[in-house]
Amino acid sequence: MKRLLSVCLLLMAHWVQAQNQPIRVTTRNVSLVYAVNEEGRLIQQYFGRLLQPAAADTLEKSTQEAYVTAGMESLLEPAIRIVHNDGNPSLELKYVSHHTTKKDNNITTTDISLKDPVYPVSVILHFEAYFNEDVIKAWTEIKHQEKQPVHLTAYSSSMLHFKAAKYWLTQFHGDWAQEANMVESPLTAGTKTLDSKLGVRANMYQSPMFLLALDNTADENKGEVIAGTLAWTGNFRFAFEVDERNALHINAGINPYASDYTLKPNEVFTTPAFIFTHSNTGKGQTSRNLQRWALNYGILDGHSPRLTLLNNWEATGMNFNEQKLTGLFGGAARLGVDLFLLDDGWFANKFPRNSDNAGLGDWDTNKEKLPHGLGYLVKEAAKQGIKFGIWLEPEMVNPKSELYTKHPDWIMRLPNRAENYYRNQMVLDLPNPAVQDFVFDVVDKTMSQNPGIAYIKWDCNRMLTNTYSPYLKEKQSHLFIEYTRGLYKVFEKVRAKYPHLPIMLCSGGGGRTDYGALKYFTEFWPSDNTDGLDRIYIQYGYSHFFPANTMSAHVTNWGKQSLKFRTDVAMMGKLGYDIKVDDLTEKELQFSHDAVTTYRRISDIVWYGNLYRLVSPYEQNRAVFLYTSDDQKKAIVFNYMMNARRTDNFSVVKFQGLDPEKNYRINEINLFPGTTSAFKFNQSYSGDFLMKVGIDLTAGRIHPLTSNILEITAE
Ligand code: DGJ
Repeated sequence: MKRLLSVCLLLMAHWVQAQNQPIRVTTRNVSLVYAVNEEGRLIQQYFGRLLQPAAADTLEKSTQEAYVTAGMESLLEPAIRIVHNDGNPSLELKYVSHHTTKKDNNITTTDISLKDPVYPVSVILHFEAYFNEDVIKAWTEIKHQEKQPVHLTAYSSSMLHFKAAKYWLTQFHGDWAQEANMVESPLTAGTKTLDSKLGVRANMYQSPMFLLALDNTADENKGEVIAGTLAWTGNFRFAFEVDERNALHINAGINPYASDYTLKPNEVFTTPAFIFTHSNTGKGQTSRNLQRWALNYGILDGHSPRLTLLNNWEATGMNFNEQKLTGLFGGAARLGVDLFLLDDGWFANKFPRNSDNAGLGDWDTNKEKLPHGLGYLVKEAAKQGIKFGIWLEPEMVNPKSELYTKHPDWIMRLPNRAENYYRNQMVLDLPNPAVQDFVFDVVDKTMSQNPGIAYIKWDCNRMLTNTYSPYLKEKQSHLFIEYTRGLYKVFEKVRAKYPHLPIMLCSGGGGRTDYGALKYFTEFWPSDNTDGLDRIYIQYGYSHFFPANTMSAHVTNWGKQSLKFRTDVAMMGKLGYDIKVDDLTEKELQFSHDAVTTYRRISDIVWYGNLYRLVSPYEQNRAVFLYTSDDQKKAIVFNYMMNARRTDNFSVVKFQGLDPEKNYRINEINLFPGTTSAFKFNQSYSGDFLMKVGIDLTAGRIHPLTSNILEITAE
């Protein structure tokens, strides 16, 4: 009793102090302000455009609890729900203290500690504010000291609260080969949920990202927009709840679906980070904020050059041998790319990997196809002046494999039910540390037995259904969480040993496109769909969250557009090829070789520059993208006439991101041999002119399925 009294007195002293002093999480242009109310609860005071400290001090007290707890008086979807040892299903969180620390010139962390006055449960809300990028990362730590474990049934990373006239939500959804479709709709009263339950990957149908526009629909260049994403490679959930007073409450975090968590005394439950940004000048700016943040902090080696490559998946499937592959190396050399990437089909002997129904799990080189092993291929590639990379899918197993018979205990499947296959495969029990070691060893052995491998494509071709972890036994509700934790342990180990090896994150197309995994990866595979037209939409969608150097974009035979069109689309991402180079005509090869050279010259601007989406493919039968270098001396315009018609009345395009004072020359580059530019840019233009008056990008006539790349250079 005495102890309780002194805790209460201490808490009260803190609240009194905190009530008079708002807690500010600030970046260059954004403020998130909290305060403590009379009951000692943490409230969200403000989130939006930068508020000067004096203005923050005069904010009227909001009534909105920041991190809503279940079981007390709030009717909102809670951020946290705990059932205590005595069966009490309520939690009250009161402010204890907060600390703000400047990590460096750009990053400030704020930790707000909260505690239940009755039950020994504490929660820390963590914020990391990236000043220059206007990005905030928010996550939570939950801990208790009850005698027995407590049941945690909701555990959001963060909540955000809004009060606007209208809310417009943009979601990014799709399916295999149709990733990142954008649809914007108004939020109405009630709860709209974007989530996934795929277990091993965040995405197949819904990507873990959203845009929220306040009052009006999201515009590229104006209006208040929030962009949010979750750094988690498993089940995610964003719940958008519009209450009876038209206030909006967002819960962002791991999807608690079938994932009640038994939290032991003193164990810390750390949620993944909710990463978000805000702009008062539209979604163009939120995209640039996140892209800049990703290059600086979110992805592995964001500022290191990426390798151009030739992949063999589309060209050969699993039907290849040593001779065929070494033949293809010559094609890679003729294209001038950096690397040859050998895809699926190179492994397993007892059950050779000749189709997707056998071999997964048996990671020895197939002796029939590749009698001299991978090491030989590395050397043969080197003779042609190119590097060699390899495809792996180490988390999976085919029933037709030696691994399946050797380690039945390592495979997830439901007892008493028929095995369930998707692409003829099953998922290994990654929560099991022995399986984590196996998965790491697949990578490590492949790398150490074949010195010189310079690149990995890490695939994951099924979602988790009909599942049960033999390792977790009675704790099946931990499965989804432990899978992702196990995966991250493996990634950590891989990165400890191979810190800078470029690895592409792939999951049956674009199933893994999240910043939880991307901090270990240099790039991702956005989609198996490489049709030039479809890719414009897919890359446009992803560009709201990811920079160009993360988006692998390959020229393939998907799509009926010209080679020039497909190449121009791929050059807007991380360029690669997946074609039979021998099938190219002389002119096509010449064009492709020149494109690779050109790409090398302009890629700095595309990868590290600032993206302005000048025309959206969702709004017109064309799309225009512009990348400017930081110093505004260079810019690249990608101009795509899509299914454009003569009747399309395309207006001039006004550029952005240039220096109004500078004069620029415009040059069409990447022309197909034997063609000349239809543009007559025989004068220089001031940045002011290009941004205010704009120029005609149809060159006077609309040709559907044509494209141009323009190089803009300051004089
Ligand atoms: C799915 C990937 O998205 C493809 O690029 C390819 O690697 C196949 N898997 C191989 O099985």
